[in-house]
This record gives sequence, C-alpha cells and structure tokens, in this order.
Amino acid sequence: MSRIQVEGAVKRFGPVAAVDGINLDIADGEFLVLLGPSGCGKSTLLRSIAGLAPLTEGRILLDGTDITHTPARDRDLAMVFQSYALYPHLPVARNIGFPLRARRWPKARVRARVAEVARILDLEELLDRRPRELSGGQRQRVALGRALVRSPGAFLMDEPLSNLDAKLRTATRSEITQLHQRLGSTFVYVTHDQVEAMTMAGRIALLDNGHLEQVGTPSQVYDEPASTFVAGFLGAPAMNLLPTRIVSRDGTLYATARDVEVALGIAADVPPADIVLGIRPEHLRVHSGPGPLRGTVRLVENLGNEEVAQCVVGDARVCVRGPRPLGLAAGDTVNLSTTPDHVHLFSRATGRRLLWAPAPEPLPVKTL
Ligand SMILES: Nc1ncnc2c1ncn2[C@@H]1O[C@H](COP(=O)(O)OP(=O)(O)O)[C@@H](O)[C@H]1O
Ligand SMILES: [Mg+2]
Repeated sequence: MSRIQVEGAVKRFGPVAAVDGINLDIADGEFLVLLGPSGCGKSTLLRSIAGLAPLTEGRILLDGTDITHTPARDRDLAMVFQSYALYPHLPVARNIGFPLRARRWPKARVRARVAEVARILDLEELLDRRPRELSGGQRQRVALGRALVRSPGAFLMDEPLSNLDAKLRTATRSEITQLHQRLGSTFVYVTHDQVEAMTMAGRIALLDNGHLEQVGTPSQVYDEPASTFVAGFLGAPAMNLLPTRIVSRDGTLYATARDVEVALGIAADVPPADIVLGIRPEHLRVHSGPGPLRGTVRLVENLGNEEVAQCVVGDARVCVRGPRPLGLAAGDTVNLSTTPDHVHLFSRATGRRLLWAPAPEPLPVKTL
C-alpha cells in the first residue's frame, strides 16, 4: 500500500519558490507523471516526496501517516535518478544488492533477492560487470534493479530515460510500463517529455512555475486542456491559439478577428469578450472551396507518414497536420475549417478554459 498525499507543499530556495503550493493525491498503485518544462519544480517536488529536499511549508503523507520529517532512508520509497548514480567500482550484483547490505540482510538472502531482480530485469548475464562495461540502457536497468530490490511501496523516478538515445528510450519506456503493471506499486515519474507522459501515465500532473496547471488522464489533459499553458504544452505541433473576440448573435457564438468571423456552432448568449480560440493542428481540414479560415501556406514539413503545413491566417500563425500528402505547397492560398467539438475557448485575461452551457442558461460562459 502506498498512497502519497502532498498537502500545501511549498519549497523555497531563498526568494525562489520552486514548489509553490501543491496539493496532489496519488493513489496506491497509480502511475503518476509529473510533467512540465525545465525549471518548473518537478525534481524539487519529487525530492521532497523522497525526503531529499525538506519542505518549507506543507505536509507529505504516506498511507495516511505524516512523513514530512521522516528521514529519506526510513521512507518506504525508492528513487531512480537520471544519472543512474551507480557505484562505478562495484559489479552489477553488488550495486543491486547495496540497499539490502546497507540494511544488514544476510548474504544468502541478498544473493537470492538479487538473482530474482536480475531475472525480472533481464540482467542475469551482466551481474559480474562493472557499470562502465554496460550500455546506457543496461545501466538504467541496474539503477531500476537497485530500486526494485527492497520491494519499496513506491518508485520515484526523475527523468530516468533522458540519457538514452531515441530508440532505446522507446523500448525502455514500455519496459517501465510493463514493470509497473507487474508490480502494481505506485510510480511517480518525472519527465519534460510529453510523449513519455502521454504513453506511460495513468494520470499526468502538469506543472508550471511551481504550481499545478492540471491533473488528469492523458486523454483529459489533451482533449480538455484547462488552460492555454496546457494546450500549448501538449501536442506536436502545439495547439493553435488565436486571440479573437467572441460575440453571440441569435443565440449562437461567433469568433471574430480582423476580416474573419467564424460560426462556432455553439449555442450560447453572452456579452462580447476577448478570448483565445484553440484548435489542434490535426483538427483543421483543408478545403478546396472557400472555408471559414483563409490563409497562406509558408512552409510544408514532411514527417514521413504525415505533413505539417505552417500557414498565416490574418496576423496569426496556424499549423495544420494531416496524412501525407496534404496537397499544399509554400505560397498556396489555403482554406481551413474545423468542427465545433474541436474548438477550445480560453479566457484572454486568465488563460483558463471557458465552459459554455446551452442557452438559455442565465450564465452560459463561466471560467473554471
Ligand atoms: N538546490 C537549489 N538551490 C537553489 N535553487 C534551486 C535548487 N534546486 C532547484 N532550484 C531552483 O528551483 C526551480 C525548480 O527546479 P527543479 O525542481 O530542478 O526543476 P525541474 O526539475 O522541473 O527542471 C528552478 O528555478 C531551480 O533553479
Ligand atoms: Mg529536474
């Protein structure tokens, strides 16, 4: 059992609040990914959970017990670092067995448990080698083995794949996912890589500047981003975000900008407001005839199976992504459209997602 609760966590380094008031409830057995740009506080939050960076304010509970002031070695948690942090002079077997020897396990039990872990991680052939005689992926597995050997209640991993090349990263990604499925332990996994987050997470906690922007399943954060920050962080290329003004006429919403007015197909009656209209590149369709968004193609990128066209619509840059060939070339005039269910609306003032309800509700648009 390892439920991890973070309550009102603040961690300051002098004037910098690396973690700035975070509440997070991580269920037993969950795979939670802490995602966000470099410097947003992911490592600091993870290290606070591990007991390596004491909180300035707030509490951390493990299965309901306050462990805020419990030393790292007495928490039933194992940490895996990006740098692997292996002992270079020790062979693999002794690296893996280290946490058990430190706890004074008898030799025979250590040997048996190391053999078991080596079998799980496919390291049996490598037990006598030293870290420098291993590839990056193998070192990473040894680091995982050392975490696994004590059967901790939860694994805390800080960008464990970022030193691996792209191909190995993909392979190791699925190994870690399978390991989680097999062990059923709680995993808290830090990454700045949205693909890792989307593919591995049960839930993603997206951080910006020390605070949580959104917590949800990969589908929730991708399909219903809570803010322009989330919308712009997930997706490659990111969601198109167009500053527009929203007006309602005859009970229907229109987005207006210079020279364009787009019927959004949403029934609502609201006062005019400055908003940001979001449409994902894969949700724009290219029309042969006139479409609601008319622009010029600047560049077409070939991704192999797909193409991305960078266009300019009015003052705004708009990306379109679709199966190759899109049938567009630089300099072309392009007509684009989308469907109402693919339109995201955000407040210009706060960046938060806007919700609407069908007319005639008295307050059809409200901020989250
Ligand atoms: N030991 C430290 N001393 C001072 N500032 C730190 C320390 N650790 C982290 N920070 C600062 O806290 C912020 C968050 O850092 P970090 O948690 O490492 O971010 P991330 O892991 O998301 O890249 C950054 O501004 C970083 O410079
Ligand atoms: Mg970090």
